[in-house]
Order: sequence, then structure tokens, then C-alpha cells
Amino acid sequence: MANVAITGAARGIALELARQHLENGDRVHALARDPARAEALNALAAGSGGRLTVHAMDVGDDASVKAGAAATGSGPIDMVYNVAGMVGTIAPEFDDVDWKTFDETFNVHVKGPLRVLNAFLPRLGAGAKVINFSSQLAASTWPYGGFHAYAASKAALGRLMRSIAADLKDRGIVIGIVHPGYVQTDMGGPDAEITPQESASGIRKLATEWTLEKSGDFYKWNGEPHAW
Ligand SMILES: NC(=O)c1ccc[n+]([C@@H]2O[C@H](COP(=O)([O-])OP(=O)(O)OC[C@H]3O[C@@H](n4cnc5c(N)ncnc54)[C@H](OP(=O)(O)O)[C@@H]3O)[C@@H](O)[C@H]2O)c1
Repeated sequence: MANVAITGAARGIALELARQHLENGDRVHALARDPARAEALNALAAGSGGRLTVHAMDVGDDASVKAGAAATGSGPIDMVYNVAGMVGTIAPEFDDVDWKTFDETFNVHVKGPLRVLNAFLPRLGAGAKVINFSSQLAASTWPYGGFHAYAASKAALGRLMRSIAADLKDRGIVIGIVHPGYVQTDMGGPDAEITPQESASGIRKLATEWTLEKSGDFYKWNGEPHAW
């Protein structure tokens, strides 16, 4: 049984990850920005016999991340999934940038996972893993424009976590960066390529098999290496 913490767990891929880890017999700390609105997650918790608990955590806010992590107790954590994310502004903005949304996108995608990692770090031992959700839009291979803050912030997240992977290698903590696929969620829309079930199940396998030698690397949900 693993102790798992998942951000952004109210819906989408994170909700499915929570469901699959619960089915696997794990102890799941599900972190949601607004637990009162997380009906599907609360239903999972109600049927979990106490193995899945829901806690409030807005990854964009220091105090909320600290309080959310503290609410999960003080025991060891084996796996942290930094999933919470937002699209922000899609169209290119050249003469009238929405700086508020731009800053929020960086805050949620870059500072958020760092806050979460810092909050759980005292409880991460050798072999613990922190899996960070990036995107194919972060890579040099993505040929399209638009999504400026989204793409740039996910690229920054990857670079940040690659540095942290080097810093934490001596402690045996594995840092993963993953593109979850183009997934049928609120974010990906109904025409996306894969289901949340496929994405979550691929990422669980990938996370379980992620070794310290590959800490700081960037993979696709199906286990293939991703270009930077
Ligand atoms: N779907 C895709 O095709 C795709 C492709 C590449 C990468 N990704 C990445 O994969 C991750 C999951 O995507 P998804 O498709 O599951 O997205 P989603 O269905 O839109 O769900 C996003 C989740 O993130 C949460 N969230 C947003 N801002 C938050 C904050 N400040 N604090 C805490 N939680 C917050 C949302 O909570 P609320 O319900 O409170 O809003 C929601 O639970 C994201 O990081 C996304 O960028 C997705």
C-alpha cells in the first residue's frame, strides 16, 4: 500500500488517478481547490472506508498549500502527483496581454508544484516520487503558436523540476515530468485522443517504474521519452 497525494483531484485526470490508486489498495490524500464542489471526489471518499480523504488545497496560494499538506497528517508520503493546471489565455496576445491570467498561469504551473513539493518534502524518503504534469506544448517539437503562458509555464516547470531532480538525487527522491497525452477532460475536450482512464493508468505504470537514474527526465503517458 502506497501513500499518495494528488493535487487538482476534483476532476479530470487527477480524479481518475485517485480512483485507480484507491482501487489498487493505496491510501489517497486527494487535494482539491474547493472540496465542497468536488461531488465525484466526495462520493469516492464516502465509499473508501477512510482510505481516500479530501482536503482543501489551492496550489496558487502558499498558506493553502501548507494547510492542505498539514491536513493530510505527518506520516510518510510515497507519491506526489502535481496535476492541478489551467489553460489560461488560448489566443496570441500582442498588444493587450491579460497579465492577470498570464501571472496566474505561471503561479499555478510553476510556483504551485514547487510549493507542493516543499510542503511534502520533510515526509519524502528514499524512493519517494514526485510526478509533475507538463504538456507536449512545453516541448521544442510543438509546432503551433497561441497558448503563450500555458506553453511557457509548462516548459519552466520542466526545467525547474529537472534542477530539483539533481538537487534531490542524493536523498533518493525521484522527480518525474510527464505529458499526460491529449486527454478527454474539461481541458482536452471530447474530441481529444485518449480517455482519462488510459492516461491515468499509463502514468501510474510509468510512475511506479520510474527509477532514480531517470529522475528529471520527461516522458509521455505511455512510457515513451518526450523531447524537451
Ligand atoms: N487534458 C489534456 O489534454 C492535457 C494535455 C496536456 C497536459 N495536461 C495537463 O494535465 C493536468 C490535468 O489536466 P486535466 O485535463 O485533468 O484538466 P481539467 O480537467 O481541466 O482539471 C484541472 C484540475 O486542476 C484543478 N486546478 C486548477 N487550478 C487549481 C489551483 N489553483 N489549485 C488547485 N487545483 C487547481 C481544477 O480544480 P477546479 O475544479 O477547482 O477548477 C481541476 O481539478 C494539467 O496540469 C494539464 O495542464 C492536460
